Amino acid sequence: MRMYDIIARKRDGRELTSPEIEFFVEGYTRGNIPDYQASALLMAVFINGMNERETADLTMAMARSGEQVDLSGIEGIKVDKHSTGGVGDTTTLVLMPLVSSCGVPMAKMSGRGLGHTGGTIDKLESIPGFRTELTMEEFISNVNRIKAAIMGQTYNIAPADGKLYALRDVTATIESIPLIASSIMSKKIAAGADAILLDVKVGSGAFMKDLKGGEELAKSMVKIGNNLGRKTVAFITDMNQPLGSSVGNSLEVREAIMTLKGRGSEALREICLSFGAHMLVMAGIARDTAAARSILEGNLNSGKALAKMKEIIETQGGNPHVVDNPDLLPLSREIVEFKAPKTGYIQRIEAEYIGKAALYLGAGREKKGDRVDPSVGLVLKKRLGDRVEQGETIADIYVNGGKGLKEAINILEMALHISEGKPDSLPPLIYKTIE
Ligand code: URA
Ligand code: CA
Repeated sequence: MRMYDIIARKRDGRELTSPEIEFFVEGYTRGNIPDYQASALLMAVFINGMNERETADLTMAMARSGEQVDLSGIEGIKVDKHSTGGVGDTTTLVLMPLVSSCGVPMAKMSGRGLGHTGGTIDKLESIPGFRTELTMEEFISNVNRIKAAIMGQTYNIAPADGKLYALRDVTATIESIPLIASSIMSKKIAAGADAILLDVKVGSGAFMKDLKGGEELAKSMVKIGNNLGRKTVAFITDMNQPLGSSVGNSLEVREAIMTLKGRGSEALREICLSFGAHMLVMAGIARDTAAARSILEGNLNSGKALAKMKEIIETQGGNPHVVDNPDLLPLSREIVEFKAPKTGYIQRIEAEYIGKAALYLGAGREKKGDRVDPSVGLVLKKRLGDRVEQGETIADIYVNGGKGLKEAINILEMALHISEGKPDSLPPLIYKTIE
């Protein structure tokens, strides 16, 4: 087999065979195929696409390129949740205790944040003492004992994807549905879940800016998952504003705790109930989503989900008292109010800019290995469509030593569009569910 022929075939719009795809992925991972040939093939795929079978083959070849996590030691059906990345997305912090309190095993391996989106591991590490480095034995035994554990990604998962992603990033070949779908699904398949719930975000703060692209991506991933024997459901959700009101590590932990107490963000609660209901059904705990929802609401109202959060924190070495008293979480030294420059309605929010403002304050990392400040970030007081008076506080900025404050204020000015009239319509929280 020659790489030249594989490139020519895709260039001419023809279908690649399974052995050809395997040859390419394996050869490139091992360094036998040079970047210039891989780049040419990626561009040919970008232009001519891949069918369902080719996309599934590419997914499996990348999943097999590294370690495959064996979660068979965990009893029950493991459902993994994956988000394509958003701003102020605290879903995992609420879903993990909520769903595991209903008996679904939550074995979560998670990443750190990069760029304008936050990472669940960084958020949890803002809890004093919380350990995210667990051995595999500890991880599995915690899930079997208390139904939930979360650890940082330490395995060598889908290295082919890592290499190809870096190449796509510099060859203008990121925005291709088969390449994105196989990239995300290869990592999910290798991470060992039995069932997968995907949250595909669309809007100003997301990687996919419009609904049409999001829907196409969601359909492609659901097909791949189901074809490979992993029950997969995708939600297409709105990211035209941060989901919760907080953006920043300890601020998001605080918001998750408040949401579990029934005093947090409405949007966050609703998304968690919708996702959670499907997870309970996929795990075989409830017959349908209506029955699942009433179990979830019961555990929120009774405090069972909150107690589970405390148990997870304590089991992983964190201070469980943060649940009763979130003031024990790190908090920045200064809080600066960002005020409305004029009277009107919140017409549009550039959610990506909100994430960037938090990044300047030190809440995120610009490059791998940067340290994050757990205590800084933003709390928005308004959502799309809300009325504001000139001089009214729109956001609290949590800042240390003035770091990034000027930049954050400049970005917030660009991020929040205020108009005289009320907006005609507001985006829904969930556009569609695809299964
Ligand atoms: N996220 C991924 O993991 N892969 C992509 O290709 C795009 C987004
Ligand atoms: Ca991602």
